[in-house]
Amino acid sequence: MIIMFEQADRLKQIPPYLFVRLEQLSAEKKAAGWDMIDFGIGDPDLPAPECIVDEMCRESRENSCQKYSSSAGERDLRAAVAEWYKKRYGLDIDPDTQVCVTIGSKEAIFNIAQAFVNCGETIIAPSPGYPVYSGASTIFNEAKCVKVPLKAEKDWLLDTDDCPENAKMLYLNYPNNPTGATCDLDYLKKVYSWCKKNGTILCYDNAYSEMCYDGYKAPSALQAGPDCIEFGSFSKTFNMTGFRLGYAVGHPDLIAGLKKCKGQTDSGAPIFIQKAGIKALSLYKDSSLPPEIAKNM
Ligand SMILES: Cc1ncc(COP(=O)(O)O)c(C=O)c1O
Repeated sequence: MIIMFEQADRLKQIPPYLFVRLEQLSAEKKAAGWDMIDFGIGDPDLPAPECIVDEMCRESRENSCQKYSSSAGERDLRAAVAEWYKKRYGLDIDPDTQVCVTIGSKEAIFNIAQAFVNCGETIIAPSPGYPVYSGASTIFNEAKCVKVPLKAEKDWLLDTDDCPENAKMLYLNYPNNPTGATCDLDYLKKVYSWCKKNGTILCYDNAYSEMCYDGYKAPSALQAGPDCIEFGSFSKTFNMTGFRLGYAVGHPDLIAGLKKCKGQTDSGAPIFIQKAGIKALSLYKDSSLPPEIAKNM
């Protein structure tokens, strides 16, 4: 007898993850002998700097690094993230209440909605945008997603005049995937004020903060004000996609909600990976890109 197991209604509503489908399609074409240039998932083809890999290998042999981490992350990495925010943005961040280490930023983008969005509430997502905002983050919470179009005539900047005023959460992402648009701090201040006025949680996805060209330096949403949450990633900056390491920084209530949610579902990134993250951030001496990273641009 063949037994069939039916997915939960919530899961059935989610289309297959876009990049999984693209991977399948490109595997089929490669198998058929096509010479492919991959414009799918943003996975750098350059290696992570050798000193970071060396650090990870060395730490992985330490018994203390072979144990469970905390789902909030190791204190020394949280302190390194806070120090990096000081160097990079001039911001004072408390590693104990304002930082949470994450298993890549994708996990935090999903879990922040688990922590704060109730059934039936509205999430605003830019369109086009990173699929998790309107996919898992919305659907697993039985929330409603309002997709706000990014338009060329507005320099691909999300316009809050197009946003509903009763939303629980707004995802925003600059430097933007997929348009490549950037924004300045004045723009972030406008969105930040709009969110505060409307009681909307600003979730700023800053995964590409270091992928900047021609003298442009991406701002942090936390420079606009402290009442929001920002997600950062080691993936793109340090070519560490497969290490699965990121961080969230922001308002203590938002970080506490994220930590509580993670405490129920994961046991933190592997400690030796977190040690590699500390090494990566230590390459920054000031706000400029370290040479190990600048050579990739
Ligand atoms: C806009 C955006 N945010 C977040 C992520 C997730 O990155 P990670 O989970 O590797 O930190 C990606 C990855 O492609 C992305 O494009």
